[in-house]
Amino acid sequence: MKGWLCTLLLLESFVFVVQQQVDGGLAENEISQQLSNEDRRQNPPQTDSLRDEASTDSQQYCHLSFPDIHAALRELTATVTEQKANIRALETQLREELNKKTDALETRLKDAEKTAEQQTEELNKKNDALETRLREQQTFILEEMNKKTDEISNLTESQVEELRKENRDREIAFSASLMESGGGHIGPFSTDITLTYRNVFTNIGNAYNPITGIFTAPLKGAYKFTFSIIGRGNPSTASTVFIVKNGEKVVTAHAHQDQYDVHSSNGVVLILEVGDVVYVRLWSGRWIYDDQNNHSTFSGYLLFPLK
Ligand SMILES: *[C@@H]1O[C@H](CO)[C@@H](O)[C@H](O)[C@H]1NC(C)=O
Ligand SMILES: *[C@@H]1O[C@H](CO)[C@@H](O)[C@H](O)[C@H]1NC(C)=O
Repeated sequence: MKGWLCTLLLLESFVFVVQQQVDGGLAENEISQQLSNEDRRQNPPQTDSLRDEASTDSQQYCHLSFPDIHAALRELTATVTEQKANIRALETQLREELNKKTDALETRLKDAEKTAEQQTEELNKKNDALETRLREQQTFILEEMNKKTDEISNLTESQVEELRKENRDREIAFSASLMESGGGHIGPFSTDITLTYRNVFTNIGNAYNPITGIFTAPLKGAYKFTFSIIGRGNPSTASTVFIVKNGEKVVTAHAHQDQYDVHSSNGVVLILEVGDVVYVRLWSGRWIYDDQNNHSTFSGYLLFPLK
């Protein structure tokens, strides 16, 4: 029983000391001091009789050697101290590592922020550049559009001018009667003769020549020609005239009256090439009458041009 108590006491002391050590309370020499105190408590200066008895009991019942325990405790204390130092070193190491990592993370964060800032700046720059380019392109397109509009309107103007010119080319019409002044018969002659209608009413395009009586086609197209005569009796001679195209007879107007007058006319649509000629001839042995009333006429005009 006393042996148990003794062991328990020792263990308690040891646990207490270790606890103190672990809690970081005592230095090694303090532990030694404590231990020697414990020793003394176990083995005090023998003044008290009870203590005496106890001492005697402990000497009698504690089979463990105190120096051994002391040594073991010292060893343990040393180990604990070492462990403590190790733990502290580990703590320091961990803290340092943590700090390093924190620093590194902060640095990375700062770097990332910097990069983000730079990227934002670059994006803004690019955006600005794009906006500038867009504006430039818009301006360019607008200018091009204006140019094109100009060109188109110029084209339209020149086309209109061309059309006007074409229309002017197409403005071909003439009309004339035989006598410029006076009146009477022309003919009869022993051969056909070309009549010259000298009293010109209209000669747009000047395709009809009143000196020669010949119409010359200025452009390819369909032309309409008409002519009319008056046949007058007493003395009785027939009046016969015909249209000629390039020397070929085409159509005839004929009138023959013993008394008074009779009227005859004819007309034709001809396809003419540029330079083709058309005129009216008086049949040989026939005559034609005219006066200031403009009975005998020759007219022609372009219906439409042909390609
Ligand atoms: C259009 O015509 C005007 C006047 O004739 C001229 O000044 C301008 O250069 C022309 N524009 C183009 C695109 O041809
Ligand atoms: C005949 O033509 C002439 C010249 O164009 C004109 O002066 C005259 O009035 C015309 N005669 C008639 C009856 O139309």
